[in-house]
Amino acid sequence: MIRNLQHIALTVPDLEVGRAFYELFGLEARADGDDLVFRCAGRAQDQVRLIPGAKKRLAYVSYGTNAEGMDALLERLQRAGVPLADPPYHVPFGGIWFQDPHGDWINVQVASEAPVRTVATPEVNTSGRYRRIGTRACDFATPGKRAVPLRLGHLIKFTPDVNASVDFYTNVLGLKVSDRAADILAFLRGSAGGDHHLIGLAKSSHTGLHHMSFEVADIDEIEMGAQALLRAGYRDGFGFGRHLGGSNYFHYIRDPWDSLVEYFWDIDVIPEDDSEWVALNGMEHLGMVWSTTPAPPDFIQNFEPAD
Ligand SMILES: [Fe+2]
Repeated sequence: MIRNLQHIALTVPDLEVGRAFYELFGLEARADGDDLVFRCAGRAQDQVRLIPGAKKRLAYVSYGTNAEGMDALLERLQRAGVPLADPPYHVPFGGIWFQDPHGDWINVQVASEAPVRTVATPEVNTSGRYRRIGTRACDFATPGKRAVPLRLGHLIKFTPDVNASVDFYTNVLGLKVSDRAADILAFLRGSAGGDHHLIGLAKSSHTGLHHMSFEVADIDEIEMGAQALLRAGYRDGFGFGRHLGGSNYFHYIRDPWDSLVEYFWDIDVIPEDDSEWVALNGMEHLGMVWSTTPAPPDFIQNFEPAD
């Protein structure tokens, strides 16, 4: 059923404030009707849609599946008593619309993941595997590299009931649990495997976006991107560090409305045949392998309005 993440939409009170942030983050903007839509360079897939609205909030999440997956999804939605709805926003694409158990809008389209632009990254020299011989890793010709994200990888969304959300996203939408921390946090991957998580569900008093995350080409781009945003005056979120859940390196920056946007690199990938993968359930998933600073107290705060 749900096989991939297509894009994430937010309502925001000022599109141009959003344009300035996401362009400096490394995305490419275009106007689409009243909205602003962002893509990664060289990738023909919308990644973020900003819709004019009174307050910043998660508007909807759009996922992709194949034709068989759509048939199965429609059957499961009907069996679960989840009604289909008209699109809640004026958008130029099809698919089906419905709400999750806590009212968050979901769009599912028959759509695959668009190819990601290829980047030539130098081989990595690690102990016993020295593959970069006679070649510099660092580019003296063009120092001051910037982050140019390759693709939207995942989001983490707040929910007032992680168990109820996990039930819905697995039993109805077909996602699979990769790891979890009891009823506090769960990482879910697509039905055909792929990244360790394309969505995470995190406990809060109400729904909202915790963060969206973009893959970059290497570890340097995480910090080059984060430092450029910090120099421009945007607020630090958390990082630099390495997660336990998913194993990816990360740095989060606060967007202008206090959602987090993450750069990531080197995430765990789980194959469709997941017989070798054992999902772990433990509070250690809330921690990090390491980070240069402790997680700030507001890292897990839900900044979206409750109503
Ligand atoms: Fe993340």
